[in-house]
Amino acid sequence: MKVYIGDSAIIAAMAADRYAELLKNKPNAILGLATGSTPLGLYAELGRRCSAGEITFKSVRSFNLDEYVGLDGTHDQSYRYFMNENLFKYIDIDIAATRVPSGIDIAAAAAYDDEIEKAGGIDLQLLGIGNNGHIGFNEPGTPFGSRTHLVDLTESTRIANARFFSSIDEVPTQAVTMGIRTVMNARKIILMAIGSAKAPIIAATINGEVTPEVPASVLQLHPDVEVYLDQEAASLL
Ligand code: F6R
Repeated sequence: MKVYIGDSAIIAAMAADRYAELLKNKPNAILGLATGSTPLGLYAELGRRCSAGEITFKSVRSFNLDEYVGLDGTHDQSYRYFMNENLFKYIDIDIAATRVPSGIDIAAAAAYDDEIEKAGGIDLQLLGIGNNGHIGFNEPGTPFGSRTHLVDLTESTRIANARFFSSIDEVPTQAVTMGIRTVMNARKIILMAIGSAKAPIIAATINGEVTPEVPASVLQLHPDVEVYLDQEAASLL
């Protein structure tokens, strides 16, 4: 793993540089995308560069990590809605070439990995990290060999995500997520983390034991992972 530390604007710009390099070399790259607070700076920067004509996503296809069960794409807390509002509407990607797992048609999850493989596999997978080490919604204990699947969200994840809903009761109890094997199949992975709340799990991910109890620790086994951290998230390294 290569670890880069800087303030949040700097790490967003550095991560955006990785996208610019990839898209220059492979304009029809397959991107694995994430939601949450962490990628917002990166997404704003990608939107800015696209508007400035510095990069284009015209030939890109994308696959998102996860979606809440029970929310369709028009729900303002669905991850499809999040992607449309925070990235896709600011870049020139063909919206029909963007995929988010369905939170309604759960049976379709079984075909998600095949769709990714048919598209040629993910060139660059973006990840945030949960306070409990989850990547996507692969909660602690998820087998490293897992493919896209239905998960029960842990109470800590529901509490962490309740900030986006009017009450904890409205936070879905299940999600569909790419599996850990799906993530590990990506040719390159960027993990980002911001803020002191992430410091303990970042230390465990990078320096701790590789164990399903810390799902992100599996990234130690991937040959091409770049980690972008602000000073607070890096404070226990
Ligand atoms: C989002 C996802 C999650 C988040 C993680 C961190 O698609 O899969 O693993 O990356 O929960 O969320 P934030 O960035 O909001 O702290």
